[in-house]
Amino acid sequence: MTDASVLKVEGLNAFYGRAHILFDVALEVGKGEVVALLGRNGAGKSTTLKSIMGLLAEVRGTRSLDGQNLARLPSFRIAQSGLGYVPEERRIFTGLTVMENLEVGRQPPRQGAPEWTPEKLFALFPNLAEMRDRPGGRMSGGEQQMLTIARTLMGNPRAILLDEPSEGLAPVIVEQMARTIAELKREGLTVLLSEQNLYFAKELSDRAYVIEGGRIRYQCTMAELMADDAVRHAYLTI
Ligand SMILES: Nc1ncnc2c1ncn2[C@@H]1O[C@H](COP(=O)(O)OP(=O)(O)OP(=O)(O)O)[C@@H](O)[C@H]1O
Ligand SMILES: [Mg+2]
Repeated sequence: MTDASVLKVEGLNAFYGRAHILFDVALEVGKGEVVALLGRNGAGKSTTLKSIMGLLAEVRGTRSLDGQNLARLPSFRIAQSGLGYVPEERRIFTGLTVMENLEVGRQPPRQGAPEWTPEKLFALFPNLAEMRDRPGGRMSGGEQQMLTIARTLMGNPRAILLDEPSEGLAPVIVEQMARTIAELKREGLTVLLSEQNLYFAKELSDRAYVIEGGRIRYQCTMAELMADDAVRHAYLTI
């Protein structure tokens, strides 16, 4: 899979001030794959995604996207080179409408990556279609989360980093989110999905990395993880 990997990270070490948080994290995501980064509270999931995205002051290690070295790029350049990022805290523009939020995310199409338009996104996120002129500030948390994902897709990314998209959402919205991500996968999107919720990640993901204490403890296919009670009990909340 090494040659086909879109996103590749090796020897990733990250620090908050003097606190060493990530230790030699290595992972890769192949084209069209959905790969889960699973771990409990404080395991290092968000720190991993932020480190890849160039958002932390002190990070060491290699990170590449379709062979392009990301390590020295500022965060906005990483986004421009085709890595989408949906942070834990939804970041929509509350004063802009749904349609205007989507326009903010627009980037030119990219060879080898799925191409998105507002109409295509409205088909995938039907509730957004019904509120295209509504200001972002007047949407529910789940709708804002969907809008953040849709806006990221307007950048026609080669891959996206999704940080706990199910967090804080009502069960029925979680299910809707899972179906939507499954459809994005069918469209060929490449995803690194950070999750605590194993049952959310399970249906969507091809493979998993299990992180604990800032170290990758285990990597496997989703089927292997579901068959391994010991690993699930040691590192995940179930
Ligand atoms: N800004 C910060 N300054 C100092 N330490 C931090 C900071 N942010 C996170 N940490 C620490 O880094 C470790 C990893 O945190 P991280 O946010 O990556 O965990 P996580 O797996 O995303 O957890 P959660 O599921 O709660 O989102 C934790 O020990 C946390 O306390
Ligand atoms: Mg987190």
